[in-house]
Amino acid sequence: MIKLQDYEIEIRANSLISAGEWARKCLSMTNRLLVVSNQKVFGLYGEAVIKSLRDAGFSVDFYLIGDGERFKSFKTLEQTLAKMSESRLTRTDAVIALGGGVVGDLTGFAASIYLRGIPFLQIPTTLLAMIDSSVGGKTAVNTKFGKNIVGSFYQPSGVLVDVNTLRTLPKRELVSGFCEAIKQSIISDVKLFDCTSTFLAKFSLNNVNSTVNGENCLEDLIAKQIEFKAEIVGGDEKEDVERNDCRSRKILNFGHTIAHSLEKVTNYRRFKHGEAVGIGMLAAAEISKNLELLSSDELLLINGVIHRLGRLPKTSDLDIDEIMAAIAFDKKSVGNSVKWILIEKIGVPRIVDGSKIPTNLLKKSLAKVFSS
Ligand code: NAD
Ligand code: GLY
Repeated sequence: MIKLQDYEIEIRANSLISAGEWARKCLSMTNRLLVVSNQKVFGLYGEAVIKSLRDAGFSVDFYLIGDGERFKSFKTLEQTLAKMSESRLTRTDAVIALGGGVVGDLTGFAASIYLRGIPFLQIPTTLLAMIDSSVGGKTAVNTKFGKNIVGSFYQPSGVLVDVNTLRTLPKRELVSGFCEAIKQSIISDVKLFDCTSTFLAKFSLNNVNSTVNGENCLEDLIAKQIEFKAEIVGGDEKEDVERNDCRSRKILNFGHTIAHSLEKVTNYRRFKHGEAVGIGMLAAAEISKNLELLSSDELLLINGVIHRLGRLPKTSDLDIDEIMAAIAFDKKSVGNSVKWILIEKIGVPRIVDGSKIPTNLLKKSLAKVFSS
């Protein structure tokens, strides 16, 4: 159990079957619940969750959205809000997001604006959602003018992590989640970095079953990762624009400036989000070394742990100038400048104003990483 401001994150294998008891603890005044999910996840876990919620005395309805990033949209948001109204949810009733980051972000946003805010719970079922998107209250939908551009900071009333759900997760989704885990480990400290990298050295991406609960326990790693994210969010819940210290929430965007550009120039089709972050971290580390912030030894450590995940999607055909143009419009910009999260050594991220990075150095660093 991890405590975060006003709610708890419960991490327990096989906990889905007791989701009802957990929801009761989180929601003392709720009668009606709407579970939001997609067909794939609901087909795997919906029945068990709904049964447990009904056994705990809730009146439960469900709503399935389409599967994929394109459904994190205004249209799906409107449909979900309509379903919340049809289900006659009042201000003490609640929604539960059962799925990955797409379901979680959209459901959280719907909860934050329906009747000006009703309670919501998260049951994340991807590794990325468990360690990152379900923790910290960022909610959003994508728009024609950009990804995650419209959203809110809105904390759930509880998060339930059942590691056993990862047994059905496709390998690429697992890799995507591990990229975010590596990101958190690089910016956190040597302890979490060593723990994550040792875990990955022993872990078989092709056989999650043997390692979900075994000696090299994924549940322990997930708990440590969540603790780190909870600590950062606890200290800077709304990502204060004026903070530029190495414990600002902005550091969670390590690798993201380039990741967002990669996703944009490939029309969000080539990369899973975490895969783009993996390449973004390789590039951010290379830039850090070329700026003489990071030593060659630490660069090798960072590259080594990312390469443990195998080959990430190809980047050698991408146009560096197009990427540079996309970087200039990064949504994490503050005022006129892009805020880069670079790294001095494991556990010491540094926020650097884009104007401090010479264009040639940036291009050279990207060319090196993208061609390898
Ligand atoms: P996703 O929600 O699209 O899930 C990935 C795929 O896995 C989907 O096809 C889904 O149906 C499937 N799936 C989910 N759980 C499964 C399971 N247990 N077994 C089998 N299949 C399963 O993707 P994601 O990587 O979880 O989330 C990405 C989203 O998260 C993006 O929209 C990103 O912007 C957002 N995000 C938000 C935050 C935040 O702080 N709110 C942080 C990082 C990412
Ligand atoms: N995923 C970045 C954040 O939660 O701030």
